[in-house]
Formats: sequence, structure tokens, C-alpha cells
Amino acid sequence: MQVAVYSTHKFEREYLKKALSNYQLLLLETRLTLETASLAQGSQAVSIFVNDDASAPVLQKLQEVGVKYLALRSAGYNHVDLKEAGRLGIRVARVPEYSPAAIAEHTIALMLALNRKLIKAHSRVRDMNFSLDGLAGFDMSGKTAGIIGTGKIGSAVARILHGFECKILAYDPHQNEELKIKYNVQYLDCLTVCQQSDIITLHLPLTNESRYIINEECINNMKHGTMLINTSRGGLVNTKDVIKALKTGKIGFFGMDVYEEEEGLFFEDHSDDILQDDVISRLMSFQNVIITSHQAFLTHEALLKIAETTSHNLDCWEKGIPSENELQL
Ligand code: NAI
Repeated sequence: MQVAVYSTHKFEREYLKKALSNYQLLLLETRLTLETASLAQGSQAVSIFVNDDASAPVLQKLQEVGVKYLALRSAGYNHVDLKEAGRLGIRVARVPEYSPAAIAEHTIALMLALNRKLIKAHSRVRDMNFSLDGLAGFDMSGKTAGIIGTGKIGSAVARILHGFECKILAYDPHQNEELKIKYNVQYLDCLTVCQQSDIITLHLPLTNESRYIINEECINNMKHGTMLINTSRGGLVNTKDVIKALKTGKIGFFGMDVYEEEEGLFFEDHSDDILQDDVISRLMSFQNVIITSHQAFLTHEALLKIAETTSHNLDCWEKGIPSENELQL
């Protein structure tokens, strides 16, 4: 079977080639869009990543050129019109879990780097400035951390923060009893979690209901100087409201691995371009903001698991057996 693999990056190519060696691979650097969908001509399956466009018109184009299967190299599927895929008979499978630890550990890396001002400290030392003025952080021990979404990643974050001796609050419509017992996690409503936490970290999917869960009203209820971390999806946060709060100090630190307008920006080298996005440009100007470009998943273990699960999903389709990773359409 030929597989058109969109949005392939250097960092994953060797993992894909190895795991998918039974398939004829068309490795495409370009994103899947309406304009690029016809490149899948001759492929029965298409594999896409987080910033590809699998909206209705794109899926229709894929079906026209003979695509039957869509293998997501991601857990999130907010970029896929599942209803339309079902109507067109295109089967969709994802990689539901590749390494919750990878994303959780990056989340903690952002917290610590912001708290202990590691970026500023590192560049000072490189300038032979060994002064400590302005570098004071805070003890994580004893602080209150609020986790919004306690699924696989949120639970891994709770495990680590419990090790730091944080008091852990959480909001999730589905409470995890194990977290209550093991890490003394206390479930409250979303607003109360935001009101009482020193650190708020987001680990819920982006849906119509969760879009802009962090907005002006929610921010107004936070403590002054709250740390906000988003390694989940950019659209969970109203970025303009966060910028306003960074200007007043209401949000004291912001760590983001995802951005609501990241398509076409993240994962690419734009160092020779003129930055057109004034919102991210403003964010980049704050000393107390760290931006990484959707790299929380980027560990050797996660890349291996993504490639192997994608191969497993394709194998199931080829053998005509159901994959446990197939999405209900
Ligand atoms: P999961 O499905 O295991 O957990 C999600 C949790 O969010 C569930 O417990 C669910 O009940 C809860 N939830 C759903 N709607 C909610 C709402 N409105 N308010 C509060 N909680 C809600 O998913 P997992 O694996 O923990 O991933 C979480 C998110 O992390 C993904 O949806 C994805 O957006 C993001 N992600 C980011 C990556 C990165 O590299 N930055 C990589 C992988 C995932």
C-alpha cells in the first residue's frame, strides 16, 4: 500500500522509514491543505500531523483521489472533520498515547525555567555577568498547582508535582479516584481551581466547549502573578486576554508550547522571514514568557511510539482487522 505522509520533518523521518518499511512511502514536507491534497493521488492511505487540515473539503478531495485511510500521527484530532470522514467512508485512526511522560516533563521544564529564570541566567553568564539580581524564584514546595484536565498527561503532571510537594487542585468532569488517593488531588470547579492556584496547567482537549477556557473573566479571578502553562492546544487560551494580563502582572509567568495561530508558523524555520503575527511578536517581547514550538512530545521514546502505532494502524487496515485506535465516526 502507498502512504502519503504529510508534514514530515527531519526529526521523525528515520523513525517513520524504519517502522513503515513495509509500505511504499511518499514523504511530503508540505502540510495537507486543499491545495496539496491531490499529491495523495495513488495513495490508499494518508498520514497527517497536528497542523494539517483535514476539514470537509480536504477530505472530499482525498476521497476523490482514492484515499481510504487517514492515519493521524497525533493523539488530538480537533483538526479532523470526523463526521465528514464517516460520510465519505474514510477510516481514521490516531496514536492515542505515545508518551504522557514526555509532555508532562516538558510542562515541568517550562515551569522551572520560568520560575528560576533560567533563560535570563544562562544568557547573563554567557555575557560574563555573574550577578544574581533579579533572578529570585520561588519554592515549588508548598505552592498550589491547578491541573485542568487530569487524563493521561494531567495525571503524569500530578505525579511529578506531588514529588515537588505541591498542593494539587484539579478540574475535570471525570474525576480520577487514583489521583485523589495517591497524590491528594482535590477536585473543584474550574473557576475555583483558577482562583486558588499559584500555577495553572492545561491538559484538556480543544473542543467547542473548552475553546478559550482561559479568558478575561477567568484570568480576573486568578491570584496576582499566577503562572500559566499551556502544552495542550493553543485555542484553549484567549491569547490577547493573556497579553493584557501579562501587562498588568496578573499573569506573572506564561509558558506555552502551543499557540492558537501556530499553523504555518510552528515546526518551520522562519528565520529569514518578516514576522507577520503581531500577537506572538508581543508575547516574544516579555521576559516572563517562554515559547516552545509544539515540542512537548519530542522525545526519542515518543517518536518511536508514534511511528510504531501508525504502522500498527495501517497493518490493521491492510489485514482487514479493526484497530483499537480507530476513531468512531
Ligand atoms: P486524555 O484524553 O487522556 O485526557 C484529557 C482529559 O481532559 C480527560 O480526563 C477529560 O475528561 C478532560 N476534559 C475534557 N474536556 C474537559 C473540559 N472541558 N474541562 C476539563 N477537563 C476536560 O488526553 P491526554 O493524552 O492527557 O492529552 C491531553 C491533551 O494534550 C490533548 O488533547 C492534546 O491537545 C495535548 N497534547 C499536546 C502535545 C504536545 O506536544 N504539546 C502532545 C500530545 C497531546
